[in-house]
Amino acid sequence: MAAPNLPLFLPVAFLLLAAAPAPSAAEKFVVGGKKNWAANVNYTTWPDQYHFHVGDWLQFNYARDMYDVVQVADAAAYDKCDASKPLVKYDRGRGFVFQLNHTGRYYFICSRGYCWSGMKVTVLVEESPAQPPHAAAPSPNAAARHGVVAWAVAAAAASLCAAVLGLPFAVWL
Ligand SMILES: *[C@@H]1O[C@H](CO)[C@@H](O)[C@H](O)[C@H]1NC(C)=O
Ligand SMILES: *[C@@H]1O[C@H](CO)[C@@H](O)[C@H](O)[C@H]1NC(C)=O
Repeated sequence: MAAPNLPLFLPVAFLLLAAAPAPSAAEKFVVGGKKNWAANVNYTTWPDQYHFHVGDWLQFNYARDMYDVVQVADAAAYDKCDASKPLVKYDRGRGFVFQLNHTGRYYFICSRGYCWSGMKVTVLVEESPAQPPHAAAPSPNAAARHGVVAWAVAAAAASLCAAVLGLPFAVWL
């Protein structure tokens, strides 16, 4: 009866690893991903795939002499592509790394006309998932482990029955 132990062990080990708390270190996001910061890219949905937290970084990679990065204050300026009152303006080099240092919404546009074709991005920054909340919320992981144990017991019972009945236990897993 040594054979059933291995297929049971692997998923249990995997789940225990997956349940480990995620690191809360600051992340760096390249705006636009492989498309970088450029004209004719629509950045409307790019932020949707991420969560941005205080301390994270936005990296704008762009073609020098063509584009710039301007942080504007609010949705009104963002909607109108109005760069007349920039909070931050960066147009040198080919990359701009910006730290998100507070919660709330940030607005960035390119001031050189390309904003109108979609070269603007807005991200909502949330509180950093600091260390304390992890300790306070062990229940989902514990529940998952209990579920795995119950499943493992059921699977072991099934394979034992199968072995007794002469059926291949792998069918039951
Ligand atoms: C965030 O950074 C900006 C400059 O990039 C600075 O003016 C501002 O005071 C900082 N805010 C906080 C809360 O540190
Ligand atoms: C960008 O895409 C969104 C929907 O994905 C659309 O509503 C918006 O009009 C587009 N912007 C431009 C400038 O094409």
